[in-house]
Amino acid sequence: MIYDHPQAYELACSFREVGVEVDALHRWAGAPRTVLELAAGPAEHAREFAGRGVMATALDLSPAMCAYARERGAGLPLEVVQADMTGFRLGRWFDLVITMLDSTAHLMTLDQFVAYLSCVREHLAAGGLAVIEMSHPADRLGDTPRVSNAWSVRKDGVGADVRWGEPGDEIDPITQIVHDRVTIALDGGEVIQGVVPYRFWTATELEAAIRLAGGLTVQAQYGDFDANVSLGSAEAWRMITLLRHAG
Ligand SMILES: C[S@@+](CC[C@H](N)C(=O)[O-])C[C@H]1O[C@@H](n2cnc3c(N)ncnc32)[C@H](O)[C@@H]1O
Repeated sequence: MIYDHPQAYELACSFREVGVEVDALHRWAGAPRTVLELAAGPAEHAREFAGRGVMATALDLSPAMCAYARERGAGLPLEVVQADMTGFRLGRWFDLVITMLDSTAHLMTLDQFVAYLSCVREHLAAGGLAVIEMSHPADRLGDTPRVSNAWSVRKDGVGADVRWGEPGDEIDPITQIVHDRVTIALDGGEVIQGVVPYRFWTATELEAAIRLAGGLTVQAQYGDFDANVSLGSAEAWRMITLLRHAG
């Protein structure tokens, strides 16, 4: 599994500007004091928040990701919990709950999506904000995908060529699930390969899941971490949804 290689995964995803994304999350949430990152993987955003003095919790299913996040977050106000995002109970509430980089694509059924949203709602403080970052629906439904599935990265002197999906990896039109073949080819010759199941969610399915879960209202949707980019604009490359605790 790709997620058994947290360091390589983090390098592969280093095209992101985590600091800039956390700036936006911080602004949208109104300077949160507590943050919960779900399906956090290496927990880059939770670690960035913790580095800024926010009490952060990162939750992920993968033992390897949790161990890596714990190690990289040592000395920071960061707690790491190994759990399933569709069924967990931490017994406390957070000002901000985030799910980054399309991690909701690991929810394969509507029931799972609703269970996840119910957990989000149960862990949001009154007036708290949840932010869900998903891929833009145009990637699957538009003529031209908004992002490339092959890219190169370099961080701290180490490089990698990444392919997330191969030409034959086709989405099942009934289940909306695709099994993406992923390759991370590291400088020096090491090649990490795996298959990552991915469920495509449309904007209207997301809306339906939010209604079914109840207790959350959509505050805004953006096409980028720059809130000036609307979801429907040509520059939009993500589907970012801000949800408020309705009660
Ligand atoms: C695409 S990675 C994203 C990691 C992180 N959100 C980021 O921005 O880099 C997806 C993560 O979701 C985790 N995951 C998958 N299913 C999960 C579940 N049911 N509950 C919690 N974590 C899950 C995987 O272990 C993996 O670390």
